Amino acid sequence: MSVGGGVENFRRRRALVTGGAGFLGSHLCDRLLGDGQEVLSADNFFTGTKENVNHLAGDSCFELLRHDVTFPLFVEVDEIFNFACPASPVQYQIDPVQTAKTSVQGAINMLGLAKRLGVPILQASTSEVYGDPQEHPQTEDYWGHVNPVGVRSCYDEGKRCAETLFFDYRRHLGLGIKVARIFNTYGPRMHPNDGRVVSNFIVAALQGEPLTLYGSGEQTRSFCYVDDLVDGIVRLMRTPGDVTGPINLGNPVEITVRELAEKVQEVTASRSEIQFAELPSDDPVRRCPDITRAQATLGWEPKMPLETGLRRTVDYFDDLLRRSAAGADSD
Ligand SMILES: NC(=O)c1ccc[n+]([C@@H]2O[C@H](COP(=O)([O-])OP(=O)(O)OC[C@H]3O[C@@H](n4cnc5c(N)ncnc54)[C@H](O)[C@@H]3O)[C@@H](O)[C@H]2O)c1
Repeated sequence: MSVGGGVENFRRRRALVTGGAGFLGSHLCDRLLGDGQEVLSADNFFTGTKENVNHLAGDSCFELLRHDVTFPLFVEVDEIFNFACPASPVQYQIDPVQTAKTSVQGAINMLGLAKRLGVPILQASTSEVYGDPQEHPQTEDYWGHVNPVGVRSCYDEGKRCAETLFFDYRRHLGLGIKVARIFNTYGPRMHPNDGRVVSNFIVAALQGEPLTLYGSGEQTRSFCYVDDLVDGIVRLMRTPGDVTGPINLGNPVEITVRELAEKVQEVTASRSEIQFAELPSDDPVRRCPDITRAQATLGWEPKMPLETGLRRTVDYFDDLLRRSAAGADSD
């Protein structure tokens, strides 16, 4: 506690970012620090890495804590961004029970912390709560079409249950909650081997390997650049207490996976061929957000053109692959 006057009375707003060493979480840490806040990142490094936040190591406003959100956490913060959870099917299916626990028990622990501190908490939910949707585009009022017993259920149902917990904490305890339903996001610091389509295509193209399309490649996706997404997240956290969401955050511009593969070929100037493989189980055919609510409530929409975002992501992977090749050569 400060006992002095003047400058000593100034205290930066302190945010807890769970999953802060992951792809989205690390960019969120960058943004919050850039906005003049203090940031405590709590991560068990299951899919995240210290490298993602290495550049913040010398920043006195940044702290990195190794912590698993399935266990309670007692810290003092002014707001909580709950991002901890593996997000790609390859990774969340490694230990599906732990994935469900991270979503559900992690939400309970972080909501408990928010309640104890009386601070707002934002949940990184997902478009996967819509499952394989039967309505297009998906509005927040759509309840979804989710297989409760499939291989993706640990993630989809875990995230749905987390949303339920958030809204029950709101209804019963008056907690300040915000729920963002995040659609496919891409950018630097994605994992090179996590099976997500953008990283898959870019890594394959840079290595001169074939780009694999599942099914016909006519399934659509919408891709939001990470800086745009993080901006939507911060705007949502800054809304008045009566704004809870859920709010879709994503890019409403739909493209087919085949078109994406062609764009990646173009941006990387790759001669990699396109090949086809069987569609994995429960893979949604179409996925596209209706962002009317985000536009009206947050004044938000994605700004980054796909080609520019892809170039930045390609530069990141190019550098990553060169460094890992150089590391392998020096062994
Ligand atoms: N990237 C996307 O397109 C996308 C889309 C929808 C939702 N989301 C959500 O956003 C969040 C972040 O996703 P991401 O793409 O950055 O994934 P990511 O795997 O890069 O990041 C998740 C982070 O959480 C950490 N983590 C996992 N389990 C944990 C646990 N039990 N305790 C503490 N930390 C744990 C990981 O180590 C990692 O750093 C996730 O909750 C995900 O569901 C992401």
